[in-house]
Amino acid sequence: MIIAVDGPAASGKGTIARALAKHYGLPYLDTGLLYRAVAANVLREGLDPAIEADAVAASNFDDELLADPVLRTDESGKTASIVSAHPLVRAALLQRQRRFARAEGGAVLDGRDIGTVIAPDADAKLFVKATPTIRAKRRHAELQASGSTVSLDKVLADIRARDLRDMTRSEAPLVAASDAATLDTSFLSIEAALKRAIELVDRQVKLK
Ligand code: DC
Repeated sequence: MIIAVDGPAASGKGTIARALAKHYGLPYLDTGLLYRAVAANVLREGLDPAIEADAVAASNFDDELLADPVLRTDESGKTASIVSAHPLVRAALLQRQRRFARAEGGAVLDGRDIGTVIAPDADAKLFVKATPTIRAKRRHAELQASGSTVSLDKVLADIRARDLRDMTRSEAPLVAASDAATLDTSFLSIEAALKRAIELVDRQVKLK
């Protein structure tokens, strides 16, 4: 069984995808980490993320890099959003994601284009969303907990800029697949969102 979970930054898709993987006993891949790995390589090598050839040159990396905390920084996320707009970077990472999805007979993948490009035949697809203000508040609370003093306004501006970039790029933009079930987590607790996610997946799998 392949489950595709897509949605914008800080929508809750990672938490939901990880919990679904546990619930159904499937391997889990956070595909944002792949783009973040390219971004981290670009930054480390002093390359320009806006130049496609630079970003492609940074697209070869070992799985070990995926566990590096440097990938979790806001700078990596922002740069990931820039390198991920290049078609050749997306092409370089495509097979890796498809192989993961099939390696153990199924998986949960989360990202922006799982239901539309990576696994259009997924058994279940969720599009997780929440209002920009609520996503910014969640991210802001996380950042504060880790000692950051960044303002809520700055976090909200960054989220809006990232949404715009991810949604307006020509290659594999962030968009709900036509057969995805939408899950708005704006006013749901984590527990309620997980319960709803499992209901939606079960329903889609039953209809297959
Ligand atoms: O989910 P995230 O914040 O870790 O993703 C970082 C960036 O990577 C995001 O802004 C866009 C890009 N991305 C993508 O283009 N396609 C994916 N499947 C996952 C992430």
